[in-house]
Amino acid sequence: MSDNRLILALDVPNALAGLELAKTLGDTISFYKIGLGMLTGGGLALANELKAEFGKQIFLDMKLFDIGATVEAAVRGLAQFDLDFLTVHGDPYVVEAAKQGAAGSDLKILAVTILTSLDRDDLDNALIEAGDIPDLVATRAGRAFDAGADGVISSPHEAARIRALPEAAGKLIVTPGVRPAGADAGDQKRIMTPAQAVAQGADHVVVGRPIWANADPKTAAQAILSEMNNPQTVTLNTPA
Ligand code: C5P
Repeated sequence: MSDNRLILALDVPNALAGLELAKTLGDTISFYKIGLGMLTGGGLALANELKAEFGKQIFLDMKLFDIGATVEAAVRGLAQFDLDFLTVHGDPYVVEAAKQGAAGSDLKILAVTILTSLDRDDLDNALIEAGDIPDLVATRAGRAFDAGADGVISSPHEAARIRALPEAAGKLIVTPGVRPAGADAGDQKRIMTPAQAVAQGADHVVVGRPIWANADPKTAAQAILSEMNNPQTVTLNTPA
C-alpha cells in the first residue's frame, strides 16, 4: 500500500469516472476524498466500492453544519458505512454532536476551522468577530480539539501554528491548498508544496486537479509522492 499521507480529491463528475481513475491509479493512491459535488453522482456507492473492493481509505468531505441533533443523526447514519474521515464545521457543538454520532465506529471527525475561500470581508458579513484569520483559525482549531475533534482542516500556512497548540497533541492536521513544485495554482491562492505542508506539521495533504486533471494522473501522483519523500529537491513556484 502506498504512502497514505497523500489524499486524492476525487472531484471528477460522477462515480463511474471516479472508479475509472482509481483503477488507472492502482496502488499509487491509497486514500480518496469524496466531496459534496460527487455525492449526487453516486459518491457514497463509490466510497463503498473503493473501500470494499480496492481496500482504499475514504475521506467523506461533507462539511456538515446544522443543529446538534441533526448532525448527530447524520453522522450516526454515515458511521454505518466503512469510512475513515468525515468533515464537519468546527463549531464546538457541531463537533460534539458529530463525535456522539460516530461513537462506537472508527470514523474520525475532522473540523473545518474557517474556509480558506473566505476573507475578512466575508467574515464581517457573517458577523464573525474581528481579528486576523490565522488567529481565528488557531482559536477555532483549539476549541474544536477541546470539543473532541480528531483533527482539523487548515491551510498549510496555518498548520505549524495549529501543530504548536497544546490541544493539538495526538490530533490530525489535513491540508488542501497544496501544489507540487511548478504546478498551476488554479484558484488556490495560499499554496505550499506537499513536502512543505508536511514539514509544517500536516499529517495528510489533499491534492485534486494536479493529479486528476493531468493527462497522466499516475505519473503526476508518483511525482508528488517522490517529492514528499525527497523534500530537499523541492522549490516552490509561488504565483505572482
Ligand atoms: O484541485 P485542488 O487540489 O485545488 O482540490 C483541493 C480539494 O480540497 C478540493 O476538493 C476542495 O474542495 C478541497 N478544499 C479546499 N480548501 C478548503 C477545503 C477543501 O481546497 N479549505
